[in-house]
Amino acid sequence: MKNTEKLSSRQAIELEEKYGAHNYHPLPVVLSKGEGVFVWDVEGKRYYDFLSAYSAVNQGHCHPRIVSALTEQAQKLALTSRAFHNDVLGQFEKYINGVFGYDKVLPMNTGAEAVETAIKLCRKWAYEKKGVPENQAKIVVCENNFHGRTTTIVSFSNDPDATRNYGPYTPGFIRIPYNDTDALEQALKDPNVAGFLFEPIQGEAGVFVPDEGYLKKTYELCKQNNVLYIADEVQTGIARTGRMLACDHEGVRPDIVILGKAISGGMYPVSAVLADDEVMLVIKPGQHGSTFGGNPVAARVAMAALDVIREEKLAERSEKLGDLLRRELRNIKSDMLTLVRGKGLLNAIVIKPKGDKEAIDVCHKMAELGLLAKPTHGDKIRFAPPLVISEEQLMECVDIIRKAIESFE
Ligand SMILES: Cc1ncc(COP(=O)(O)O)c(C=O)c1O
Repeated sequence: MKNTEKLSSRQAIELEEKYGAHNYHPLPVVLSKGEGVFVWDVEGKRYYDFLSAYSAVNQGHCHPRIVSALTEQAQKLALTSRAFHNDVLGQFEKYINGVFGYDKVLPMNTGAEAVETAIKLCRKWAYEKKGVPENQAKIVVCENNFHGRTTTIVSFSNDPDATRNYGPYTPGFIRIPYNDTDALEQALKDPNVAGFLFEPIQGEAGVFVPDEGYLKKTYELCKQNNVLYIADEVQTGIARTGRMLACDHEGVRPDIVILGKAISGGMYPVSAVLADDEVMLVIKPGQHGSTFGGNPVAARVAMAALDVIREEKLAERSEKLGDLLRRELRNIKSDMLTLVRGKGLLNAIVIKPKGDKEAIDVCHKMAELGLLAKPTHGDKIRFAPPLVISEEQLMECVDIIRKAIESFE
């Protein structure tokens, strides 16, 4: 078999089963092409993509502008490491700081690496600026968080799949209930708390949106206690929820912002941590880094991806179409559909099983009808299409979702 042989779906799945680690359980579709809101499987069937690679593909699949940035830069210079300067990185740094209003950016590759970077930055700040005694710094996190898969990050997860048999765990984290400002107030009484790390909306937990005012109140508590307010916007950022950052909904400006996924439009692994000098400059040369972080391809791709968000007004579109989507979904009359929630185009429905039919069966039915989505935590299905979706396309998708759910009536 040649490396590029054309495979049927069945053959492709068999190869993955046999030769790949079994750390994922995908829907049985094999995709070979994407454009805008659509993806096609190897047999040529077209689907609406309602996951957008977990909100990485906000700008739509294979956006021509981002593809050009990638291919043009790849033909010129791809990687220098940070042992030498390159002529794109500084432009990207200036650009992204201008977009989000911070002094400095530290580029990495994956979301988890950016979260790790924020944790290290926060601890170092605690020792060198706040005066926390050596090795005593704590970071407050929330129950049902998802911040990635590294050993330290899973150390403060309460999902048994993420943690079981991966110990010993990294100490230094206090877990409190999400959406509970009293619990944060209590936790911040410990003078060694250095930061509060949270998701403005919990994506993996099933698009759990906190009460209005939660962001503002938690921000104020952190300010009162000299604790860094660290927003993980890897999934919620880059216009997904109807604003450039989900924190913008309540007008709070985090001390540290963590970005990933759609910062590259899903074209290339790019992540970034933003902070002001007071925080960022505690890391000195040689104290943190990554071979690929800030490479010229990543820098060029991220600038193009952010250009697309701004020029195509995708935050505004996300807000408007998100309202429409939730309104239409709430009109679907079915005992199985118990809840619709979300912000902008980051949404989820909760499915109550009927007989032996549950959320995964709804997803299989939607796939048959031409729309791809996947359950998270069993009974929830996330609906997060690329933000370039049109109103007409969205209404067609609502029809597919309705038909899929009603097929079990
Ligand atoms: C909020 C949040 N943080 C971090 C991550 C980890 O990103 P990555 O998979 O790129 O490491 C994710 C991924 O889903 C996420 O949703």
